[in-house]
Amino acid sequence: MATEVRAQQVFNAPEFLVGPVIKTQESAFNDKAVSAAATFDPATHLTYEPPGNIIMMKDLGYDEDAGVSPVAVSLPFQLFSEEAINEMRTEIFKPEVLRDCSFSSNIAAHQFRGYAAKYAPFTYDAWHCPETLAIISKIAGVDLVPVMDYEIGHINLSMKTAQQTAEELDAINKQKSFFAADEGIAGCPFEDDKPIVGWHTDSYPFVCVTMLSDCTDMVGGETALRTADGNVIKVRGPGKGCAVVLQGRYITHQALRALGARERITSVTSFRPRSAQLKDDSVLTTVRGISDVSELHYEFIEYRLEIQQERMRVLQKELRKSRHAGRKCPTSLVKNFLREQKHFIKHTNTELVPENDIIAGYIPPMDGNLDVIIIIDDNRSV
Ligand SMILES: [Fe+2]
Repeated sequence: MATEVRAQQVFNAPEFLVGPVIKTQESAFNDKAVSAAATFDPATHLTYEPPGNIIMMKDLGYDEDAGVSPVAVSLPFQLFSEEAINEMRTEIFKPEVLRDCSFSSNIAAHQFRGYAAKYAPFTYDAWHCPETLAIISKIAGVDLVPVMDYEIGHINLSMKTAQQTAEELDAINKQKSFFAADEGIAGCPFEDDKPIVGWHTDSYPFVCVTMLSDCTDMVGGETALRTADGNVIKVRGPGKGCAVVLQGRYITHQALRALGARERITSVTSFRPRSAQLKDDSVLTTVRGISDVSELHYEFIEYRLEIQQERMRVLQKELRKSRHAGRKCPTSLVKNFLREQKHFIKHTNTELVPENDIIAGYIPPMDGNLDVIIIIDDNRSV
């Protein structure tokens, strides 16, 4: 029964209108793709300007050590140049990416995943570039690396026809003028607060969301964050070339629907701490149904084993030093370490779900209704 319900949910995934639109986009980008592919150059492709504000975990009522950093979320900041964004767009519209890396689910109609290492050298280099990582790490308050190559530049794609966009804008403008005339208010009653994805926490500690579309006519598209006391704040979404950094594993959040834009393409790269000594609570809950599971599992196992090996190397070194110094064996310290390792291995094992038990395109339901909203803008803190 549960399987039937799940299958039905997958079947009922929102209608995706990308077919003809992508064809148009594709031909437009093919002209550009003829020219030699650019190499990522931080000197010209990074146009970083620090965010106007960074909201801390304690600002949202959480403990500073609830996650891997005291930072909760940044406001949008300029990250990549126009040229860099265009190169990234060219890469995602390559026919082989459309063919091999497209995924859809019960909650998102069209996504590209796992394409960067294979087909998108510019995007791959952009997110492995030490200068880029230094920027993201500085904002996040902890030294970060991409969690896995598979999670570099995950693309969320939403496209509408010109007619649909015009109808949407018309409806927004009518509502705008209605509220302005009737109530004389300049709030946002015309926003559609229906979320794209329900309340959830991410699978990985940190995320950097970069906007690859022009947002000039876009209304909505904010990220709503749940505070520790049950209130909700909204942080506005990034404009083209801008990004937002969020500690999404530890903060319940949702993306609100964006209206009035013909296309909305966001690139999402997930991060984990560089240090093996920091905790890694990463799970695969929200990604295993929209992945090449074999690739995802190889990379997850690889980095989890690396963390374990590094932790063991460090312990071994400490024990040798202790012995050479003539100290007694710190048995209780070792037993604590082994307890933690047991937990770590159990966690890795839990996340490795046999491929036959995974329902392609199914993401577990996420929900919850909260209604106290505070809008956060550039020069305000919570
Ligand atoms: Fe999220």
